[in-house]
Amino acid sequence: MALREIREYGDDVLVRPCKEVKEVTPRIRELIDDMFETMYDANGVGLAAPQVGVLKRIVVIDCSPECDEPHLLINPVILETSGEQTGYEGCLSIPGKSGIVTRPNYVKVRALDIDMKPFELEGTELLARAICHECDHLDGHMYVEKVEGELVNNEDLQQQEEE
Ligand code: NI
Repeated sequence: MALREIREYGDDVLVRPCKEVKEVTPRIRELIDDMFETMYDANGVGLAAPQVGVLKRIVVIDCSPECDEPHLLINPVILETSGEQTGYEGCLSIPGKSGIVTRPNYVKVRALDIDMKPFELEGTELLARAICHECDHLDGHMYVEKVEGELVNNEDLQQQEEE
């Protein structure tokens, strides 16, 4: 396993649509391992393959302790959404910043697992937000397109919360 370089906002790879995964080759397996390692190293709750420069429809998510386990989504398709949540959201490709985004409060997604077997995953609150955010990356979209108001520095946010 190895850490991969996280591409930052402005990098062309982040605005391009990703291709479906046809087969989990040893290279793809290595990519997935590296994506988890890179996400954990950066203290993120999710990472999409284009963020490490690979235009494939692969997402990793771990929002523990709020959620129970890490998730791998290959070729994810959002089947259903409902409700609404409005709150701060960040992205490893825009380090140190957050912005207010409204997302569904419930999401059901269909994806393939590491063995290319289909499964469905339901999420609410943070997991629902993460699924939407990461699936957007696969179509070349980033949360800043949906932000209400200005981006803020995470340090200022922390200060606000402490006050
Ligand atoms: Ni992101």
